[in-house]
Amino acid sequence: MGWLSTWSYQLILCFQLLLLHSLTHSKLCSHDQASALIHFKQLFTYSPLYGSCAAIHPPDQKLKNWKEDTDCCSWGGVTCDMDTGHVTGLDLTCEGLNGTIPSNTTLFLLPYLQVLRLSYNPRVIGAFPEFNSSNPLEVLDVSFTGLSGRLPNSIGNLKSMTELNLQGCNFIGSIPASLGNLTKLTDLIISFNNFSSCIPPSLSNLRSVRTLALEDNHFVGTIPEIFVNLTQLSHLDLSGNQLSGPIPSSLSGLSNLEYFDLSGNSLNGTIPSSISELVKLDTISVSSNYLSGNLEPYMFAKLTNLRNLDLSSNNLSGNLEPYLFAKLTNLEQLDLSSNNFNGNLEPYVFANLTNLYCLDLSNNSLSSTSTTKVTSSFEALCNLERLKLSHNKIHGKIPKWMGDLGKDSLISLNLSHNFLTGGIEKLPWKNLNFLDLRAVTACDGAVASSNSRRGQAGVQ
Ligand SMILES: *[C@@H]1O[C@H](CO)[C@@H](O)[C@H](O)[C@H]1NC(C)=O
Ligand SMILES: *[C@@H]1O[C@H](CO)[C@@H](O)[C@H](O)[C@H]1NC(C)=O
Ligand SMILES: *[C@@H]1O[C@H](CO)[C@@H](O)[C@H](O)[C@H]1NC(C)=O
Ligand SMILES: *[C@@H]1O[C@H](CO)[C@@H](O)[C@H](O)[C@H]1NC(C)=O
Ligand SMILES: *[C@@H]1O[C@H](CO)[C@@H](O)[C@H](O)[C@H]1NC(C)=O
Ligand SMILES: *[C@@H]1O[C@H](CO)[C@@H](O)[C@H](O)[C@H]1NC(C)=O
Ligand SMILES: *[C@@H]1O[C@H](CO)[C@@H](O)[C@H](O)[C@H]1NC(C)=O
Ligand SMILES: *[C@@H]1O[C@H](CO)[C@@H](O)[C@H](O)[C@H]1NC(C)=O
Ligand SMILES: *[C@@H]1O[C@H](CO)[C@@H](O)[C@H](O)[C@H]1NC(C)=O
Ligand SMILES: *[C@@H]1O[C@H](CO)[C@@H](O)[C@H](O)[C@H]1NC(C)=O
Ligand SMILES: *[C@@H]1O[C@H](CO)[C@@H](O)[C@H](O)[C@H]1NC(C)=O
Repeated sequence: MGWLSTWSYQLILCFQLLLLHSLTHSKLCSHDQASALIHFKQLFTYSPLYGSCAAIHPPDQKLKNWKEDTDCCSWGGVTCDMDTGHVTGLDLTCEGLNGTIPSNTTLFLLPYLQVLRLSYNPRVIGAFPEFNSSNPLEVLDVSFTGLSGRLPNSIGNLKSMTELNLQGCNFIGSIPASLGNLTKLTDLIISFNNFSSCIPPSLSNLRSVRTLALEDNHFVGTIPEIFVNLTQLSHLDLSGNQLSGPIPSSLSGLSNLEYFDLSGNSLNGTIPSSISELVKLDTISVSSNYLSGNLEPYMFAKLTNLRNLDLSSNNLSGNLEPYLFAKLTNLEQLDLSSNNFNGNLEPYVFANLTNLYCLDLSNNSLSSTSTTKVTSSFEALCNLERLKLSHNKIHGKIPKWMGDLGKDSLISLNLSHNFLTGGIEKLPWKNLNFLDLRAVTACDGAVASSNSRRGQAGVQ
């Protein structure tokens, strides 16, 4: 017993010492840093926000409670290093801030600031200051603000940067090559997202976020060869700008890339074969550019993690080789619409795509005279819900193999603007809700009923 009480006495003493230690060591934020924050506060008035941003993060007017005679580490949105009292983070996402950040602001220059988030404050305007190499910023997220101007070359001095998000601002000019020096970058987002017509449910909330934005950025010029050393990059989004010229061949450096979006630019040339090495890719979108050329047969053979592939609205051509997508067993959405793909559409192109639910091949020059016997492997498209084949050159009868596509899963089938002549005696699809056969040349009448909307009962 005596031993135990001595032991617990020592424990209590130990706690007391710890407490004393933490009291003497939790420093208040320094006067310099507090006054930099107060200066910043004085730049803004509050104007209420509407829409989804306000719904997601109701503005709580954090700045109201920033008072000079209190410890700035206790202020809303401010994060400090508890040992030193240095301000290391500032998060004022969706706060309804209205005002101009002058380019000589001390804000980006708080000497210990690592994380700065100002996103969804569309009435914050201003431009970036010059950054020097002692700046410790790691995260700079000013997405959906009204910041504008060119990106200074000195952004390449922010060597600790892991996340740069400028989505939906008003930046102009070229992408500085100095970004290629930011080797710790994991997220480089300088755009709008501009998803294709098949928006996965998990991403659909981003649609409403768009409504907050003022405009696209307007980065022009070619994409510099900045990717060689950006081996940590996992999220690269340059979509919705005015970038032209080829996709850089230095892509192969991006061995950790998961999300790759160049859509809505003016890029031309071919899709570089180096993309086939980026084995962690989950999403590729190069839609709405001027890319041309054929898809190499093995281009996607190693990209087994791919879930979304959007090559729509380009000038890609050639046959879709059998087994082109055969290794993409995780693919959920494939959009090849509005290109110049031609040749006979063979079912084997889509072998093994057991997770595909949205397939858009519309507005190409695909034909189908296939009499190919479909083997069981082809029934793999067992989760297909939407199939668009409108505006192609499919002649004659609806190919027999098509009836095996998503037999139990297909909800919507669009075959309009083809040259179908045959009838369908019995629709094989059990759950079809939409069938569009408009402008089909119907010779024997069976198909003539246009744009039928059918419930389950009608098909059975
Ligand atoms: C933003 O601030 C400016 C200048 O203080 C003011 O004229 C404007 O009405 C404010 N905007 C909103 C939406 O409150
Ligand atoms: C920024 O410049 C303005 C005028 O150009 C000046 O009034 C202000 O004091 C400057 N602020 C800092 C922090 O240097
Ligand atoms: C970098 O900028 C900070 C903040 O303005 C300043 O304190 C520091 O002296 C500058 N360092 C260099 C090397 O210029
Ligand atoms: C990258 O950094 C190095 C060393 O800091 C510098 O010499 C070089 O000019 C930078 N590259 C670019 C493109 O800014
Ligand atoms: C990539 O890094 C290597 C080694 O640090 C360097 O020599 C090269 O210039 C860098 N390339 C680019 C494009 O920054
Ligand atoms: C999004 O892409 C479509 C084509 O897919 C294009 O018409 C539209 O302008 C783009 N929107 C933005 C905001 O870039
Ligand atoms: C890409 O566009 C530029 C400018 O319009 C043109 O000079 C170049 O030849 C084009 N390249 C290809 C491969 O079409
Ligand atoms: C599309 O590519 C074909 C060659 O495949 C070329 O003849 C045509 O000019 C291209 N069209 C456009 C608009 O670039
Ligand atoms: C389909 O997937 C299976 C299992 O992953 C694989 O063995 C087969 O080679 C694939 N088929 C093709 C045509 O690649
Ligand atoms: C078909 O694609 C062309 C370009 O390839 C585009 O101009 C046209 O608007 C598209 N038509 C439809 C119906 O989507
Ligand atoms: C089928 O596709 C055509 C052309 O792309 C389009 O106009 C039509 O609205 C589509 N039908 C349905 C039911 O979505």
